[in-house]
Amino acid sequence: MKSIKINTAGGESVILMGGTVDDLRERLPAKGLYIITDTNVGRIYRDIFPKGEVLEIEAGEKSKTPQVVIDLCRRMLDAGADRSSFVLGFGGGVVCDIAGLTASLFMRGVRHAFVSTSLLSQIDASIGGKNGVNLGEYKNIIGTIRQPEFVLCDHNMLATLPEEEFLSGMGEMYKHAAIRDRNLFFDLSASADRIAARDPGILGDLILRSVRIKAAIVRRDPMENGIRRLLNFGHTFGHVLEIHYGMPHGVAVARGMVIAAELSAWTGEMPHAEYRLLSVEMEKAGLIREAELPPNVIGRIARDKKSEAGSVNFVLLRAVGKAIVRRLSLTDLQAFVNYYNERKDNSQSIQQGK
Ligand SMILES: NC(=O)c1ccc[n+]([C@@H]2O[C@H](COP(=O)([O-])OP(=O)(O)OC[C@H]3O[C@@H](n4cnc5c(N)ncnc54)[C@H](O)[C@@H]3O)[C@@H](O)[C@H]2O)c1
Ligand SMILES: [Zn+2]
Repeated sequence: MKSIKINTAGGESVILMGGTVDDLRERLPAKGLYIITDTNVGRIYRDIFPKGEVLEIEAGEKSKTPQVVIDLCRRMLDAGADRSSFVLGFGGGVVCDIAGLTASLFMRGVRHAFVSTSLLSQIDASIGGKNGVNLGEYKNIIGTIRQPEFVLCDHNMLATLPEEEFLSGMGEMYKHAAIRDRNLFFDLSASADRIAARDPGILGDLILRSVRIKAAIVRRDPMENGIRRLLNFGHTFGHVLEIHYGMPHGVAVARGMVIAAELSAWTGEMPHAEYRLLSVEMEKAGLIREAELPPNVIGRIARDKKSEAGSVNFVLLRAVGKAIVRRLSLTDLQAFVNYYNERKDNSQSIQQGK
């Protein structure tokens, strides 16, 4: 087992990579443990849960609402929880977001940690201390930044993950590579067969490299005032697609990355050949879904939390492996969306490199 420490003003967090729940004994309290999980993870892993009160929520993004958090606080209170209680989120990104927010709010904050069970949460959602729920169709509007004491990533648990959810995690892994690590990007492409077979050896290595990228960014900018914004690459269009089509988060982000890469080429920040490289490799990895942008995409983006006074901070690429933040006016974005929608067949133009 390898461990990665994240020290910030908001607390210290340790990521335990490749361990199992047996490694948690000394990190959990003897009593007062509240385990938040979802119906799928509960069904598969309940037998190995540490000793504690289990609070189950419905699996899926639809559970990420303020009401679910309030209900969990009520259930904890009814079960006798107090300020010394400890919340353990045991599940994917949805459970981690909800458990982290519940722990932040219950009695103004109790201790918390995660056992991260999906690929997406092992490389991304459980790391960095952001916890949020959605407000209607707007994602992660209500939330906190608070570091979990630890995050356990048991890679063997990835064997039970449905294929679409596995791909979703790969979307965020490609994102880490695209913004910071060109070598990781090529290694992902070269290892495609072993990744598809979920070889725990190669996955452990790639997850570690991916987490190191995220951890290094979070350490430098825990409150997202600067470099951490790069982690939003692909998310502006991705969130719109995720909500509109109900796609898994990382699959929508992957599509959003390819659109943002095309925007990077359109604005002249990145050579067109780099856009083609990114889109062709991600298509080979099974990560590109044809998805037309829904109507009023700019209106949705404008109301997104990253917009201010007629312009948005947008993460663009200069090359695969190097991201930058640029301020773009909504007018320019609209012009790009018009150009994008007018193209007859996106996939064809990717292959032909138009
Ligand atoms: N807080 C952050 O920094 C952050 C970062 C990235 C993503 N997110 C959020 O994470 C969420 C997506 O996370 P996710 O993809 O893990 O979604 P998820 O938690 O909904 O998990 C996906 C599905 O897989 C199931 N599952 C999880 N682990 C399993 C396992 N080992 N075996 C079988 N089934 C399993 C779940 O029950 C669910 O049905 C989104 O809401 C996104 O906004 C948060
Ligand atoms: Zn994401």
